[in-house]
Amino acid sequence: MCGVFTYYGPKTNAGEIVIQGLKRLEYRGYDSWGIAYKNNDKINIYKQVGKIGEINSDDLDLKPSQVAIGHSRWATHGGVTQINAHPHSTENNEIVLIHNGIFENYLELKKQLEAKGHIIKSETDTEIFAHLVQEHNQTQDFEDSVKLALKEVEGRYAVVLMHEKDNKVIAARKGSPLIVGVGENNEYFIASDIPAFLPYTNKVIYLDDNQMVIIDNGDLKVLNTETHEEVEKRIIEIDWDIESAEKGDFPHFMIKEIMEQKDTLSRAINQDPKTIEAVAHEIKNAFGTYLVACGTAGKVCMVGEYLFSKIAKKHVNFSFGSEFPYHKHFLTDKTLMICISQSGETADTLEAIDVAKKKNVKVVAIVNVESSTMARTADIVIPIKAGPEKAVASTKATTAQMAILTLLAYACNGGVKHGQQLLIETAGKINDMLNPRYEEHIMQLAKKIKDVESMYIIGRGMNYPIALESAIKLQEVSYIHAEGFAGGELKHGPIALITDGTPVIAFVPNDDTKSDMISNATEVKARGGYIIGVSPENHPVFDYWIKVPDCKDASPIVNIIPIQILSYQLAVLRQNNPDMPRNLAKSVTVK
Ligand code: M6R
Repeated sequence: MCGVFTYYGPKTNAGEIVIQGLKRLEYRGYDSWGIAYKNNDKINIYKQVGKIGEINSDDLDLKPSQVAIGHSRWATHGGVTQINAHPHSTENNEIVLIHNGIFENYLELKKQLEAKGHIIKSETDTEIFAHLVQEHNQTQDFEDSVKLALKEVEGRYAVVLMHEKDNKVIAARKGSPLIVGVGENNEYFIASDIPAFLPYTNKVIYLDDNQMVIIDNGDLKVLNTETHEEVEKRIIEIDWDIESAEKGDFPHFMIKEIMEQKDTLSRAINQDPKTIEAVAHEIKNAFGTYLVACGTAGKVCMVGEYLFSKIAKKHVNFSFGSEFPYHKHFLTDKTLMICISQSGETADTLEAIDVAKKKNVKVVAIVNVESSTMARTADIVIPIKAGPEKAVASTKATTAQMAILTLLAYACNGGVKHGQQLLIETAGKINDMLNPRYEEHIMQLAKKIKDVESMYIIGRGMNYPIALESAIKLQEVSYIHAEGFAGGELKHGPIALITDGTPVIAFVPNDDTKSDMISNATEVKARGGYIIGVSPENHPVFDYWIKVPDCKDASPIVNIIPIQILSYQLAVLRQNNPDMPRNLAKSVTVK
């Protein structure tokens, strides 16, 4: 949520570099954006409402500069207005800052600052921090003022500040991601995510919570924000390539990432067997295992409940990250928590980890972003290796996460090789399935249903969570009202919603849910429903058949893919931007 980006170095087009970096971070927030850059010891600020992707920087008349900060916003405190857009500054632009996170005690601080004569222009929680630094700056230098101000704020933050009369750029993090990119010739970048500076460098320094970085004329130092002692940091070379973070020939990231599932599943399965065995050992010996995640990753956990029950004969519990704290009474040092997250920065899941850690619970993280807070907090990490996922709607990370859970369930019953074999075959079948003819077949359906008001999705067993996940995909990018139900639940109420022509997607795999699913589809059809069957075989009850390969226990992995494609196509037909759906952001770093 919100992207921050900073350039400090020898190049003289810092403003332009920051604008390009923000474009690569736009998936984190796209309500409004802004930059601040220094030219002839004066700070210039430019900010506006709207998407930075639509901006041509030539129109901005940027002046030469070697240091600039920029931000793309997902509004939390204060509406989407130019005044609320970052960077925020003191009255005279002397101190400017960008911020991702929330200063929870900002109202109290605001009152104190206003009483001292500060004029706070915006409705944000962010602006007070610039004034707080200014207040200390009356008696202290810039660096010490930031140190003092950091001690006064509560909440989560990644902040970057510059000062008109000081050469330093100062950044700090607590609970929100912040990564330093180290370029050639004393060139530095500070960003929320690596793709922002990937065209310039693949050398990074990961800041941890309660650390600040001070860049001063080519020198960089990292300090602990509490003790102010210098911390030694390693420069790490990462192996991401810029192509994997760009759209290439695809019109949108979402369809690129859906198509990448031809490869991502094989990468996900390619795990260190020792790690998989170690986690399986933990599951077998734990006194209670919780799968914890939010949104789509939460639906993956629900699939996990069925996989562990069927394959490993193990009961595991799912909880949303935001609900997990209410289970704390059950936690002991024998509990195991398995968190699943694409970003590894989801605040609700991180909070759940905090709660668990206080009870000495062992934490396993199944994450895509290996540099994330979650990966760095967990006791054991299983990377899903899906590569950068930039579209807000999660696709390739979802199937990779399901593959890992399948592998773990098989590892728990001593059949990890069998699980691997199943997943390798599934990856091959997905590769065959994802061709232009398949897309065209789904497009014909999308054209038929593009103007409907509501649609419903039903599934049983491990495809029940896939019905829920399908609803999320359809909702977030097509904006069509969509709801998922367990096939057997329809007759207990929701069937009243079915009228003539209501589209209902039914997952009918070749497993023990098949005949009951056909009965449920038939009940819906009898009430006028238009049945879209997702199944390895056609059936007379289907009005429209989407064929999927028969993948046994991996059926949730293949079944979600045509619905990802359908959601994408509906978004495009309805002229929505599938990569940046309204009101959403890629990583949800607020509670
Ligand atoms: O980064 P995470 O996997 O922790 O994100 C969790 C949810 O916010 C995320 O899955 C969200 O529901 C997606 N937009 C769904 O496509």
